[in-house]
Amino acid sequence: MDQLSLFDAPAGGEHARAEARAAKLRREIDRHNRLYHQLDAPEITDEAYDALYRELVELEERFPDLRTLDSPTRRVGGAVLPYLETRPHRERMYGLDNVFSLEEWEGFVQKASRALPEAGPDVMSAWWADPKLDGLACELAYENGVMVQALTRGDGEVGEVVTEAMRTVRNLPLRLRGNGPFPRRIEIRGEVLMFRREFEELNKRQTELGQKRFANPRNAAAGSLRQLDTNVTASRKLRFLAYSLGEVDAPGMTLWTTHSALMASLKDWGFDTPPEGRLCRNADEALAYYRHLESIRDDLPFEIDGVVYKLDNREAQAALGFTARAPRFAVAWKFTSRKAETRLKKIAVQVGRTGVLTPVAELEPVSLGGVMVSRATLHNEDEIRRLDLRENDIVIIQRAGDVIPDVIGPVLEKRPEGLVPFEFPHVCPVCGSPARRLEGEAAWRCLNMACPAVIMRSIVHFVSKAGLDVDGVGAKWVEALIESGRVKSPADLFTVTREELMSYERMGEVSAGNFVAALEQAKSSATLTRFIAALGIRQVGEQTARTLAEHFHDMDELEKAGVEELMSLPDIGPEVAGSIRAFFETDSNRELLERFRAMGLWPKGGRKEEGTGALAGRKVLFTGTLSRPRDEYRRMAEAAGANVASGVSKTLDYLIVGANPGSKLDKARTLGITVLDENGFLALLQGESHQ
Ligand code: IVH
Repeated sequence: MDQLSLFDAPAGGEHARAEARAAKLRREIDRHNRLYHQLDAPEITDEAYDALYRELVELEERFPDLRTLDSPTRRVGGAVLPYLETRPHRERMYGLDNVFSLEEWEGFVQKASRALPEAGPDVMSAWWADPKLDGLACELAYENGVMVQALTRGDGEVGEVVTEAMRTVRNLPLRLRGNGPFPRRIEIRGEVLMFRREFEELNKRQTELGQKRFANPRNAAAGSLRQLDTNVTASRKLRFLAYSLGEVDAPGMTLWTTHSALMASLKDWGFDTPPEGRLCRNADEALAYYRHLESIRDDLPFEIDGVVYKLDNREAQAALGFTARAPRFAVAWKFTSRKAETRLKKIAVQVGRTGVLTPVAELEPVSLGGVMVSRATLHNEDEIRRLDLRENDIVIIQRAGDVIPDVIGPVLEKRPEGLVPFEFPHVCPVCGSPARRLEGEAAWRCLNMACPAVIMRSIVHFVSKAGLDVDGVGAKWVEALIESGRVKSPADLFTVTREELMSYERMGEVSAGNFVAALEQAKSSATLTRFIAALGIRQVGEQTARTLAEHFHDMDELEKAGVEELMSLPDIGPEVAGSIRAFFETDSNRELLERFRAMGLWPKGGRKEEGTGALAGRKVLFTGTLSRPRDEYRRMAEAAGANVASGVSKTLDYLIVGANPGSKLDKARTLGITVLDENGFLALLQGESHQ
């Protein structure tokens, strides 16, 4: 044995062991990434994940050749590019033609059928349908199962190289899942998106940092992807949903004969695909699918603007080919616009519960997707300045999912002469005291604790959905009671009598009775979570209220908790803890609490009571005519640990229906939510399972 091999042998052995270990770690980390980011079902703690990840990083630092292209350590960003390189697409990325009605859709199908008479009616009536995603198209190239390149769509011929940025997108596989065989090279096309929730959080952060807000999730996704600094992309939770192919080079492999089969393979390979995708077999099904998607549009976590139909048979697709700008085998059926143009009559400034001055656009009423709209959100001073909105401008408004629409901007060509830039008020429009814009905040605030607007909003908040959620006590009545001077604090509401109420204009005997009864009911059935949320302690929203209610038995116990104890609870940091302490240290708040205690509004919480009932953590909703009062059912559900929802959404667990249920039932059915009748609900309370 010579010197060299003696020296090499242990190192070689070590390298081989490291290589095997790194491969194993990559597989494990990939699996946990997928469980966490795609399936929402993590199996290990963050700490355990971090330990695996660190071990891989250390191995790769010691043996840099182990840092393979598909290593999960490539997902964290780090690369800073000098500029975005461009590269041609091997196969052009076409756009899609649009249709806007069933007639136009049928026209499109007829035209395709005429162009391909040999295909026959069966082939020409089977269309794969999925949502038209409102993001940006991107193409990922995989060689022998490993992702090697990502290109944006660009102009369809040439795209920008965004390989490093796309590696940070957690829900796409850096290596195709499964054992193969994989094509020598395959291009997977899909859409890069940002979910609405992440878009909103991003804009909130941008505002806090004094940076520009993104106009919509699509712009935010595009801005995040086309970054030179991939650390920025990595911090922006983008997702990729796969929906079609580019060039495929797979000698000897049998490829898919239908688009449905392709979609199944994409899933098997570890891609997320557009949810709700399915095969439609005729015009009726295509129409039903369109209506279905339109009805669940706002329940999807991301924005869509129509349905894409693709001929399922891939051979027929190829035979039909492309026009100059779009495929002849695929089409987008767009939803009707939710944009409208109208006049911005006035920018009003409202004062919120925390003193924040919020600008609101008062609009010439206009129909938007079938609903009359006369107000829109304007966010804050910077947003008005960014858009350069002026009173009397003609503006475009858009509804993106929320009930209240957004102002996209003025139509400058239509701006009347003589409009002046908007001056944001520097005094409170209600009490006249000076307003402040605090360091690092986008909002101006009225700092006067006794500002009538702040008091009014706090009381309205107390009974609102975000607070005690007292059904039948609307903001209008609360405002009238406050304006007349009868109610000065939320506790006063509980002392108002039916007779007093009836002296108010337009308050009849029945509504007055309901009002008083609803408050009585709230007194006895309020949960500690709702009560804490109702108090409107700064920085304490529903989630924090729930945490507190789980850990403390009642307000006395919460009052005794010090900052340390509070901070030991999940998601409570120094600011929130400080704000809870400050609440109890204010005399007027303690007096208010004493009044609640005296009148019997003193809910009990504590871990034992929450989360153990037969419906713990479940969301239920009642609809239709029930054989017992709705309130009684509500109380039963809450006593069993359920939350009673206000509408049908994907997160609902059970819809309980009485006679003549109406649209909620339809919506629940389309969302696949469990529907029960009253007996089913009662059985559920007894602990019978309906899973
Ligand atoms: S399939 C040959 N499916 O919309 C068909 N495209 O306005 C290729 N888009 O450029 C595209 N959602 O980037 C397909 N579910 C979906 C889509 C989708 C959005 C994009 C696509 C296209 C653009 C046309």
